[in-house]
Amino acid sequence: MKILVTGTPGVGKTTVAKQLAKNLGYQYINVAEFAIERGFTLRFDKTLKTHIVDVEKLKKALGKTLKEMDKVVLDTHLVDAIPSDCVDFVIVLRLHPRELESRLRARNYPKQKVMENVEAEILDYVLVRAVKKLGEDLIYELDTTGKTTANLVNEIMEALKKGKRKCGTIDWINVLEREGLIEKYLVSKNQ
Ligand SMILES: Nc1ncnc2c1ncn2[C@@H]1O[C@H](COP(=O)(O)OP(=O)(O)O)[C@@H](O)[C@H]1O
Ligand SMILES: [Mg+2]
Repeated sequence: MKILVTGTPGVGKTTVAKQLAKNLGYQYINVAEFAIERGFTLRFDKTLKTHIVDVEKLKKALGKTLKEMDKVVLDTHLVDAIPSDCVDFVIVLRLHPRELESRLRARNYPKQKVMENVEAEILDYVLVRAVKKLGEDLIYELDTTGKTTANLVNEIMEALKKGKRKCGTIDWINVLEREGLIEKYLVSKNQ
């Protein structure tokens, strides 16, 4: 079984994926580290303070590496770098945009990077990429807001055991509207 843990940066992928790998006795691969170690980066974006990855090269190398492996948990927001025949189960972690904003600020991300990621979370960006590239049938979407790592890992183990799938159940736009926060994130940004 090859498991992908994905979601917008800051949702808790690395925390959950490492614990899940530990519980299952699986290997853990952080795809960003894998890319940097092998030199699959094109340049470093100074404004966004991030490596720009050569997705095609990374995808090829991951395909080769994953062919030789079985029990593995992959951790990345770069869904496009995952060969579609190399994963059996895809967990898309979600987080309330306000909590995501506060986590990314705490990480000292540049303001633009915080807002881009919050917007991506609101607009289901990673989920949409995952559906398109890997298929809805593999996806278990999970709202992590207010849940502990132990709880999340238990829920994932349960979903794995029972072959549960879930997709398209989270609507942050609706939630933000109800909470009176929609203008803060989607309108006032450029005013
Ligand atoms: N379930 C959780 N509840 C509260 N904070 C969490 C939880 N999971 C992760 N965090 C915190 O959120 C931040 C981002 O988590 P991380 O696992 O690095 O996310 P990602 O790998 O998706 O960028 C870290 O400071 C981490 O300690
Ligand atoms: Mg991470």
